[in-house]
Amino acid sequence: MTQTTSTEGFQRAERLQGIELSEIVRISEHAARLRAQGVDVVALSTGEPDFPTPDHVVEAANRAAVDGQTRYPATAGTPALREAIAAGAGAQPENVIVSTGAKQVLSGAMMATLNPGDEVITAAPFWTSYADMVTLAGGVPTILSCPAEQGFKLRPGQLEAAITPRTRWVLLNTPSNPTGAVYSKTELQALGAVLKKHPQVWVVSDEIYQYLSYVPFTPFVQAVPELADRTLTVNGVSKAYSMTGWRIGWGVGPVPLIKAMIAVQGQITSGACSIAQAAALEAITGPQDLLSERRKAMRVCRDLVVDGLNRAGLECAVPDGAFYVFPKTPAKMPVDHEFCRYLLDEAGVALVPGRAFGMPGHLRLSFAYATESLQEGVRRIADATAKL
Ligand SMILES: Cc1ncc(COP(=O)(O)O)c(C=O)c1O
Repeated sequence: MTQTTSTEGFQRAERLQGIELSEIVRISEHAARLRAQGVDVVALSTGEPDFPTPDHVVEAANRAAVDGQTRYPATAGTPALREAIAAGAGAQPENVIVSTGAKQVLSGAMMATLNPGDEVITAAPFWTSYADMVTLAGGVPTILSCPAEQGFKLRPGQLEAAITPRTRWVLLNTPSNPTGAVYSKTELQALGAVLKKHPQVWVVSDEIYQYLSYVPFTPFVQAVPELADRTLTVNGVSKAYSMTGWRIGWGVGPVPLIKAMIAVQGQITSGACSIAQAAALEAITGPQDLLSERRKAMRVCRDLVVDGLNRAGLECAVPDGAFYVFPKTPAKMPVDHEFCRYLLDEAGVALVPGRAFGMPGHLRLSFAYATESLQEGVRRIADATAKL
């Protein structure tokens, strides 16, 4: 059969209005295509660590496959993994759902709870998928602009003013992708104080970068335990253990919510890959020294990049967590996607424009790469910026 690109006769669902392949994926794929054509590209656009998955984790997966853990797993996650996650979170296994990446946890929560027109508050800049997940589930994202001047963090007054009777969730991300902002315990408590007045509003706290915080990290439920019965904490092995391809993430929350999410997952993917779950179990119960070692290594990368970008004249704050910096575009080329295009075409460096995260006028650079790539990338950005 010949492939056709014609859209005649094809009906796209209305819920897909405005939803496309993420800009991050498009840029990373474009950079990969250029590389395949022999173009020398330094891609600092993807949100995944450059480290390999630890050997002992790969061995555990191998053992699981050889031992025959190859049948459909329980929809909510293997009992062993749910237990281990619950023990780490001070919860019960019934409070835990394991999914195909944190991404599925987040979108499952939206699908399980939103009715058409329900509102979900999130702070911009935000991880690209948040708004689209809400829209796909029939909800309406309420996006609150949190610029650099406020540390890219949501303020209690902003939250209070945005809550309406239709608000179902506030979506927090600490440490944040794309800014690296980390909420302090006091800041979380101030947001919690607002939320206590609005019992219909639940909290998603996406803490997938928890182990990549360069300042003391407080989980939302620890800062505001009184709201535990309406909080979903999201985490996973992708970022901390360099396991992006294994696709294991989890949610910890109140039993009725978890049950609803299990019902959704049961009709969409069933349980997450059994072998990847065995690997994730080894990652979180095995030796943990790598977490602090990698955090230290990342911190060195962070300082290299922040220093280099500021020297190049791109105003760049020091992120407290994750592995991203979110500098401003240069005054001579302020439109973020134009500057990104220029950097890719003229300097062979792939970055992501801030508009992909709901905040134009910025760029996201991931520093989870080898030192040599970062040095080369920053050098090229400095040269290209000087030429403007
Ligand atoms: C803030 C945030 N949440 C969730 C995810 C998804 O993680 P996973 O690979 O577990 O689906 C990402 C991945 O980039 C992220 O940056």
